[in-house]
Amino acid sequence: MKILFIGMGYVGTTMGVVLANAGHEVTGLDIDKEKIASLKKGELYFHEPNLQEMLMNQLQNQRIRFTSDPKEAIATNDILFITVGTPSLTNGNTDLSYVKKVAQMIGQFRTSEQTVVVKSTVPIGTTEKIEQWITQESHECLPVNVAMNPEFLREGSALHDALYPDRIVIGSNNTEALETVEKVYQSWTCPILQTTPRAAEMIKYASNAFLATKISFINELAKLCDTLGVNVHDVSEGMGLDNRIGSAFLQAGLGYGGSCFPKDVKELL
Ligand SMILES: NC(=O)c1ccc[n+]([C@@H]2O[C@H](COP(=O)([O-])OP(=O)(O)OC[C@H]3O[C@@H](n4cnc5c(N)ncnc54)[C@H](O)[C@@H]3O)[C@@H](O)[C@H]2O)c1
Repeated sequence: MKILFIGMGYVGTTMGVVLANAGHEVTGLDIDKEKIASLKKGELYFHEPNLQEMLMNQLQNQRIRFTSDPKEAIATNDILFITVGTPSLTNGNTDLSYVKKVAQMIGQFRTSEQTVVVKSTVPIGTTEKIEQWITQESHECLPVNVAMNPEFLREGSALHDALYPDRIVIGSNNTEALETVEKVYQSWTCPILQTTPRAAEMIKYASNAFLATKISFINELAKLCDTLGVNVHDVSEGMGLDNRIGSAFLQAGLGYGGSCFPKDVKELL
């Protein structure tokens, strides 16, 4: 399949390389010309184990290419993944300006009935707005098939997470979009959940908020353990062995951080 990733950040680059490795013909588009220049040379601008080697292989196989020309890239691909950033505004709401710009750009340059896949983490109801932003900018009455496909990879184990996810979630009200995105992932063996765009958006926020809650819970418990003379690490081990609870994200330490948990919790609130 001919797939375009718009936004060559952590998520777009990793997923682009992984889908090229799965046999698709991938194009990576970014407005940052320096990023594109280094990716063309096979150089990653962030560190992620084994991703550099896979990028090099896919460049040599000519299954991935990089560009900063949106017009040509949008017109010549069938499936367009949106992977731009969705940072927090100062009031905690999500800044959707990058996503909106990309939707308008797709509307302006598209030439056929394409499938647009929202991979950026977006507030509930945004996928429907993206569809409107695209059609409002489109010159002709071209139908567009939109789906939401949240990403769950973690920085530091992004390649492993992208190759072996626990699940793939696809949200759309459009049967053709659901089928097309499922085909993109046909070589994956994990469960694929088809749902509505709103549920797909919420699954991403709910998952991150739940994991953040686990971290905060064990940190609160650590304070209580300190007061009562209990080793919190023994407590996490004893709790984590319960299958219903699990040991992941149950190590007491600093408060949660990273590029997603704080912003996603704020947006959910
Ligand atoms: N980083 C993670 O671990 C992670 C995990 C899961 C989900 N997500 C979500 O995925 C999305 C992307 O995250 P990221 O960390 O890859 O972001 P990032 O900030 O690393 O990358 C975004 C990229 O988009 C590019 N961009 C901005 N506007 C553009 C435009 N008009 N056209 C083309 N390119 C444009 C930027 O130059 C940048 O390279 C966010 O919504 C984030 O919440 C991130």
